[in-house]
Amino acid sequence: MIHVPVLLKEVIEILDPQPGEFFIDGTIGSGGHAVKIFEKILPNGKLLGLDLDKNNLKIAKSKILTELRIKNSELRNNLILIHGNYTDLPEILKKEKLGKANGLIIDLGFSSEHLESGRGFSFLKNEPLDMRYNVETRDKGQETSDKRQATRTVTEIINSFNEKDLAEIFWKYGEERYSRQIARKIIEERKIKPIKTTFDLVEIIKKVIPPSHFHRHSHRQIHPATKVFQALRIYVNHELENLEKILKNLGKIIKNKGRIAIISYHSLEDRLVKNYFRELKNQRKAQILTNPAGKPSVSYGARKPIRPTNEEIQANPRSRSAKLRVIILR
Ligand SMILES: C[S@@+](CC[C@H](N)C(=O)[O-])C[C@H]1O[C@@H](n2cnc3c(N)ncnc32)[C@H](O)[C@@H]1O
Repeated sequence: MIHVPVLLKEVIEILDPQPGEFFIDGTIGSGGHAVKIFEKILPNGKLLGLDLDKNNLKIAKSKILTELRIKNSELRNNLILIHGNYTDLPEILKKEKLGKANGLIIDLGFSSEHLESGRGFSFLKNEPLDMRYNVETRDKGQETSDKRQATRTVTEIINSFNEKDLAEIFWKYGEERYSRQIARKIIEERKIKPIKTTFDLVEIIKKVIPPSHFHRHSHRQIHPATKVFQALRIYVNHELENLEKILKNLGKIIKNKGRIAIISYHSLEDRLVKNYFRELKNQRKAQILTNPAGKPSVSYGARKPIRPTNEEIQANPRSRSAKLRVIILR
């Protein structure tokens, strides 16, 4: 399943990449946004793409080079792909001698490719419970004290954390109503045998949540494991800490008049972005861009994020919860 980029038209219109500019895609995924940005900044512009998942970087590279039919090595050199965390951008820009960029896109969370990765992102398939975006640190045996690097798998967390900590993760990152009961059941079941696969965890959740109480969400019924899986993914990959860190460092990454677009899929993420952008606006360090129709319009009071249209949600249900916020630095 190839990842369908979310709010693509809106992102390109509002970021408005120009020939010769330097853009960063901090979460390049399979390159859905990056390919359109690269197309606009060519032939002299540069694109730096990062991802924690090495496999996604490969997919992005092949998509960009194939779709834009790039064979010429000079153009290839203008596409710089790095396996890394967007929180390290200030250091990466220095190391690569790139200077600050004209624009940045961060499209948070996981990609459709992760559901097929065999690493336990999907509760519909029986797989080992891992859920790390970056599997490298541990594969190389490099235990690290750097909390940004996800070194623990979900299996390790589920089988070692205490009841209170597990319940807190399910509640804080998943808003799971049955967080305490699920945590209690996990402790009970892991005494009998370790919880190793997605289906082990799904079975435990189903024992706790009665079928009549399966979550309802705008008239849709969602799978009972949805919220717990989301919470574990966010926790294991330090997603909120990473977002907070890059927000604080935007001035080190982006030039004056540079544009920054962030797409979030979770209310906690959106709240961080909204509050931080508002703070920059109040300090007169940024203006909020909100109107994707035609040229971006600057609005000082804008509080509403850009949401997908009904047509986009129908074509790509994954876009349902997306919120796009954009600023221009002053
Ligand atoms: C929603 S996908 C991006 C999809 C992409 N915009 C596209 O259209 O193909 C998010 C990607 O960000 C990566 N990712 C998540 N957190 C990251 C981080 N802190 N630094 C770098 N990449 C990250 C994930 O591995 C995933 O591939």
